[in-house]
Amino acid sequence: MTKPRKVAAETDIAQGLHYVDAESGSVVPPIVPSTTFARDENYALIASQYSYGRDENPGFAVVEQMLTRLEGGAAGLLFSSGMAAAAAVVQSLSPGEHIVVPKVMYWGLRNWLVEFCGHWGIELDQFDPADPDDLADKVQAGRTSLVWVESPCNPTWDVIDLEIAAEVAHGAGARLAVDSTVATPVLTRPLEFGADIVMHSATKYLNGHADVIAGALVTAECEEFWERICRQRANTGAIAGPFEAWLLQRGMRTLFLRVRNASQSALVIARHFAAHPGLECVLYPGLADHPDHETAKKQMHGGYGGMLSLCVKGG
Ligand SMILES: Cc1ncc(COP(=O)(O)O)c(C=O)c1O
Repeated sequence: MTKPRKVAAETDIAQGLHYVDAESGSVVPPIVPSTTFARDENYALIASQYSYGRDENPGFAVVEQMLTRLEGGAAGLLFSSGMAAAAAVVQSLSPGEHIVVPKVMYWGLRNWLVEFCGHWGIELDQFDPADPDDLADKVQAGRTSLVWVESPCNPTWDVIDLEIAAEVAHGAGARLAVDSTVATPVLTRPLEFGADIVMHSATKYLNGHADVIAGALVTAECEEFWERICRQRANTGAIAGPFEAWLLQRGMRTLFLRVRNASQSALVIARHFAAHPGLECVLYPGLADHPDHETAKKQMHGGYGGMLSLCVKGG
């Protein structure tokens, strides 16, 4: 049970949305390992939303509500991994659809997209995130159904202007999905810039303790495509385990403190190495000479993230 309250997101998340168990008064949600749920003599479920563990688990709700609160969305879904979350979006498209993704992004997802879209009959185009016009050139009006971006993107930390990406996607009749793993909702809330779906590898900052593999999606609207994604998770069983869900809600309570500290440290490290004679360059959107520094200033609030790249002279 959670009570809606008007407090800062930081406080809300630190308190797990002020969870209080209706039966026991416990302020920490229980872990429910049950795979199946009881029915009465008429075969009606005792709690109508829970029937089988591949569809739902009581431990998912608090995590999904925390994610929704963090991103300012309409609903959230917890997955077994970031890859599973991204795959559920793409697998909810139909053969023949066209999608546009960045050339520079998390390599595991890019490789899967190329292979899966080839098999599934989805046409895939890749745009150069460093070229501000390339996304608009690759999107086809009336034909593209999904634009996928990652911001900042690994490992160049290019920052995609989400407002422009949303305009381009929507102008063509497509949805915009954003992998916001690196920014986290502490620094950027993509739905506020017009994105339709936000994705996270919750394995990273959201959990923050290197002991959970999980993924998340948050939607701006609960429309038909979102319903398809929900069914995709249930049908393919791309769910987190009850223990992982519990660890994640605990890890997320310190998200704001961790991300702000990591961002401050990354900026100090980036500035320290910026003029190092052994380096070609330092890639970090918080440095004034990063090509996307102005975009980062516009859409990243309170820091530029904890990730940076050092390009060593000599390869
Ligand atoms: C930006 C980004 N997106 C997605 C993923 C995939 O997430 P997971 O490892 O939780 O499946 C990763 C993992 O490194 C990542 O860094």
